[in-house]
Amino acid sequence: MRKWWQDIIIYQVYLRSFQDGNGDGIGDLPGLISRLDHIKTLGADTVWVSPHYDSPMDDNGYDIRDFHKVSPDYGSLDDFRRLVAEAHKRGMKIIIDMVLNHTSDEHPWFQAAKDPTHPEHGHFRDFYIWQEPKWEKGERKRPTNWTGFFGNPTWTYNELMDEYYLHIFSKKMPDLNWRNKAVRKAMKKVLRFWIDIGVDGFRLDAANHLEKNWDFPDASPGYEHFSSLPKHHEYLQELGEEIFEPHDLVIIGESGGASTKEALQYAGFDSEEFDMLIHFGHCWADTDSKNTLTPGKWAKGEIDVPKIKKSFARWHEALQGKGWNAIYWHNHDHPRIVSHYGDDARYWKESAKMLALTLYLLPGTPIVYYGEEIGMTNVDYERLEDFRDVEVFTEYENFRANGSSHEVAMQALRDRSRDNARSPMQWNGDKHAGFSQTTPWMPVNKNHVHINVKDQLEKEESLLKVYQRLLSERRKEDVAHGDVTFFGLEHPETFNYLLRAKTCDYLVLANFKETPLEMEFPIDPSGFRLFLYTSDRKRAEKKATSFGPYEARMYKRKR
Ligand code: GLC
Ligand code: CA
Repeated sequence: MRKWWQDIIIYQVYLRSFQDGNGDGIGDLPGLISRLDHIKTLGADTVWVSPHYDSPMDDNGYDIRDFHKVSPDYGSLDDFRRLVAEAHKRGMKIIIDMVLNHTSDEHPWFQAAKDPTHPEHGHFRDFYIWQEPKWEKGERKRPTNWTGFFGNPTWTYNELMDEYYLHIFSKKMPDLNWRNKAVRKAMKKVLRFWIDIGVDGFRLDAANHLEKNWDFPDASPGYEHFSSLPKHHEYLQELGEEIFEPHDLVIIGESGGASTKEALQYAGFDSEEFDMLIHFGHCWADTDSKNTLTPGKWAKGEIDVPKIKKSFARWHEALQGKGWNAIYWHNHDHPRIVSHYGDDARYWKESAKMLALTLYLLPGTPIVYYGEEIGMTNVDYERLEDFRDVEVFTEYENFRANGSSHEVAMQALRDRSRDNARSPMQWNGDKHAGFSQTTPWMPVNKNHVHINVKDQLEKEESLLKVYQRLLSERRKEDVAHGDVTFFGLEHPETFNYLLRAKTCDYLVLANFKETPLEMEFPIDPSGFRLFLYTSDRKRAEKKATSFGPYEARMYKRKR
């Protein structure tokens, strides 16, 4: 049976950077409401809003202090209600970001948990994960040597308790103890609160980290002891059965590193956990394992195109006919796609269009990340102070400790940090890019003078126009339910596929790299007409087998 959320097109908004509505330099709900029409004109009909809750903003709102309150930075609960009403009035849906794994250390639960004299300490202590220190040669040590996702140790000592609490993200984000039934009950209440307000779904943050290995063995970094452990499925099923299923919501789970072995468990049609998941299988296909100065995701290497294609192919195979896929390039935790897999200088336009063509005719539910539709690039910051992300500062210190120069460390931040995807939306070429009347909370990219919405609305062949055409084509031809065949998965430069839609077939041929190449049609070309392309039409028609840097073409044939 067809579900409503199989036909939606999602647009992800990083609230803090989308549109400032009250002139304080911070994006907010009234600002977002004023831009719903942009999202609609693009062709999307569903907005995923990054956390809007009350928060000390250590991690821009993923550290929640009060689940029932809107951050004063973003507006009020009435503004939120208005967002839902305004979206629904336009036939659009609202998905909110829900953080199940942790709270802020300023949340009243943690305030009670960490203080043995607090009247509610007894109830709240076990909302979090506490362990006694390890003592070695008279020295107090952390319970394990694990490293968290922001590059810091996962345990912080609390004097009042004389114990350590676990946090797999920043030390201001203590992990909740999902083994505790009272935690699950409290979180269900939070979910119900927002369902009653009228949200259409949730994007569940860090959803595969809910269970931990309570034997607490040493391991470095130790991710396997707090990621994708079997029991987290039980918690998700419990939520699904009691909350998600009865309300016909759309549930998108973030499960970084999830393998296709678990695909059906998460997002199979019979699964009660998610409707679709975000797994990042194709997101870091260009790391250099030999780089020890700025290691891991920070080490920029050659792009492994087969790895990207195979991830898409593997997930489609795992879920085709049995479950549902979300399709996306990146989100607020990655570099900007055109800077990452394309070229944000010489071939900016070609590569941005190529990336659009290679993604948006794949089946599943697409998620467009704000600014992607105009080809926003990585930040151009010269100074460490221009960065904002909590992760940047721990990692900068780590890079320096590994022996990186300041310049090498800064380059890694400019290439790979999450701040790249979080700079203010570029609406026009004015001083603050039309984002705000005043200095924004985070500097606007200088290239907003030529990369902006206003300019691209005026130009016929702009990237924004390509997005509009692709998304409207998707909808018209029911591409979400199409049937995909990938060609040449092992080829190091091409990204080619055939999509059989309702009444048409689409053939996408792309050169994913800068070096020009020759390629033949992988199938009989009869009946196919050139429909979208990244260079000029004449060239594409005359030299159908030769592809310039990042050149891509989409052909269409009526069946
Ligand atoms: C998710 C979010 C990320 C956040 C983290 C902790 O990975 O996408 O932005 O920092 O969870 O909540
Ligand atoms: Ca504001």
